[in-house]
Amino acid sequence: MNIKDNWLELADGNKMPQEGFGLYKVDGQETMTNTIKDAYMAGYRLFDTAQLYGNEAEVGTALKDLQLPRNEIFLTTKVAEENQGYEQTIKSVKASLTKLQTDYVDLLLVHWPIQRAFFETWRAFEDLKSAGLAKSIGVSNYQMIHLQYLATKAHELPVVDQIELHPLLTQKPLLKFNRDHRIITQAWSPLGRGAVLGEEVLKKIAAAHGKSPAQVILRWHLQNGVSFIPKSIHAARIAQNADIYDFKLSESEMQQIDALNNYQRTGREPELTYEYNRQY
Ligand code: A2P
Repeated sequence: MNIKDNWLELADGNKMPQEGFGLYKVDGQETMTNTIKDAYMAGYRLFDTAQLYGNEAEVGTALKDLQLPRNEIFLTTKVAEENQGYEQTIKSVKASLTKLQTDYVDLLLVHWPIQRAFFETWRAFEDLKSAGLAKSIGVSNYQMIHLQYLATKAHELPVVDQIELHPLLTQKPLLKFNRDHRIITQAWSPLGRGAVLGEEVLKKIAAAHGKSPAQVILRWHLQNGVSFIPKSIHAARIAQNADIYDFKLSESEMQQIDALNNYQRTGREPELTYEYNRQY
């Protein structure tokens, strides 16, 4: 197996690469185009952006300039808190598509749960999917409680839940809940924004396999069956992060990595964002 051929089947029948590329904080047209080019060459096919990142137009220009075949690329964007609500969601997704220079996204995510427009936003998502503007619909930063609440009124359930997930925040109960409900968990900041790379246990496991700590963490995600979207703006690291398909972690090594969990978030607490209706 390699990164390019490793696709997961979603509950709606569509397929999604298990390993994708995160574009958070990739700014400026030249950096964007070079980064997407390096990632494509290394085998990445999933590119993950968001209205909040402010770089959808650069992504669109890069994909066009590089002439990457649209049907080979899996494109994700996310609706920002300020754009939630039925009408605003529809309007903002159309604006995103214009910036991305495409007729559809492969995956549309609600970026954060907020109470103000919780059900209306999802109703818009279902309609956008029916209209073909999004092939698959999902959520991001939803905890079990948000997924259960959404299910009380949704006609379709999210097929992906993108959450902060890394060895310092393993979220095992949520992973099990998602698995049980055929929701693919997707890890954002799969490397914990670099905070975990210096851990001795990771260095030891990495040395034993002739790999780097980053590769060990990504392999841990792979073997956990979750999707993950590492990012880097350096070609060597982009390639390195895709080169994780030629070694295997033992059960004991997986458990040693699990044991690093200390409930450490680098991002916001979803429950507070829900209550505030915005980033705080
Ligand atoms: P850079 O872009 O300078 O390479 P996360 O995906 O968890 O948010 O972490 C992303 C951070 O980790 C980025 O700052 C990125 O920096 C860094 N990074 C990505 N890949 C690697 C790697 N293979 N080794 C070390 N650092 C990495």
